[in-house]
Amino acid sequence: MQDLESLKRKWTAAIGAADSGAALDAVRVEALGRKGEITLLLKSVAELAHEERREEGTRRNALKLEIAAAIEARALALTDAELDSRLAADRIDVTLPARPEREGRLHPITQTLDEIVAIFGEMGFSVAEGPDIEDDFHNFTALNIPPEHPARQMHDTFYVDAASIGRPANPDARGGASGPLDAGESNITRVLRTHTSPVQIRAMQSTKPPLRIIAPGRTYRSDSDMTHTPMFHQVEGLVVDETTHMGHLKGCLTDFCRAYFGVADLKLRFRPSFFPFTEPSAEVDIGCSRKGGELKIGAGDDWLEILGCGMVHPKVLAICGIDPTRYQGFAFGMGIERIAMLKYGIPDLRTFFEGDLRWLRHYGFAGFDVPTLTGGLAR
Ligand code: DAH
Repeated sequence: MQDLESLKRKWTAAIGAADSGAALDAVRVEALGRKGEITLLLKSVAELAHEERREEGTRRNALKLEIAAAIEARALALTDAELDSRLAADRIDVTLPARPEREGRLHPITQTLDEIVAIFGEMGFSVAEGPDIEDDFHNFTALNIPPEHPARQMHDTFYVDAASIGRPANPDARGGASGPLDAGESNITRVLRTHTSPVQIRAMQSTKPPLRIIAPGRTYRSDSDMTHTPMFHQVEGLVVDETTHMGHLKGCLTDFCRAYFGVADLKLRFRPSFFPFTEPSAEVDIGCSRKGGELKIGAGDDWLEILGCGMVHPKVLAICGIDPTRYQGFAFGMGIERIAMLKYGIPDLRTFFEGDLRWLRHYGFAGFDVPTLTGGLAR
């Protein structure tokens, strides 16, 4: 008769010694495979004397089940252990600082945008967007710039030949459907938006007042020199409700400029101006000094123009379906590169878009320094 106890000890030890999935598999085959020791032992029950078969068969079967269960348990333990060791081997310490030579920098435009959003976000503004490829209506007509208006010439507009290019594959690029143009659509004049002001129109058309938005984004004009690039960025602001007046406009922009330039007593001058979509309109200058050819913001008696603004023209409200006898508001627009150049002392606008890594390392910002009003805006 077989000594089942010593067999059980032997196989239990072999199972325990198997230190990988492959080793355990080999043990399984030797014990329980078609020609495995336990399998053959069970088969040989048939050779026993008739009266022994039943009892011995039950014992050998119990041994087989025990060995199978032990293999199963070992397999589970091994998978866990393998996973643990893989996890330990793959472990990386994400708290380590980035290697300095690999650390990317945020472009000054990104940084300035984040600062603008942080400041206006704190004042309760939310961010709105519109398409870069605009139609004539949103870019001009709805802003009270009818066809033949001289302001259209001043914008150096890039016209988009919609009929020849069809619709862009990405509908977000112009805020509409994609696919081929419908008949009639090809009659619409499309332009690369010359300013972010059309986002005012889209916001007023899609949302009932009260409205309080800023709309940062790319803008385009056919112009290129030290202070102009064909693509640049603007941020638009719009507030519409039943009570907002010019005093709120002045307070809002004063707070913004003081926070952005980090000069608590920065002087601002609101100079009467003209924009077709605001009445009255103003341009805002900030106090500066140009002594010795060096520009200092917030000191001296000189002035530097930084943005345009005004009370939303009643015609613009009406065209967007907002009752101008009940609602009023203010709007403003400024160039992002311009205020970035002023704050960070960047002399040439064109360098923003040259993609020169040395420039980016010099003028760029660390990615983890997220600007907030409480935590500080820049380095
Ligand atoms: N859209 C104007 C431009 O590009 C800037 C501007 C002026 C925007 C006055 C406004 C505003 O919203 O009220 O020159």
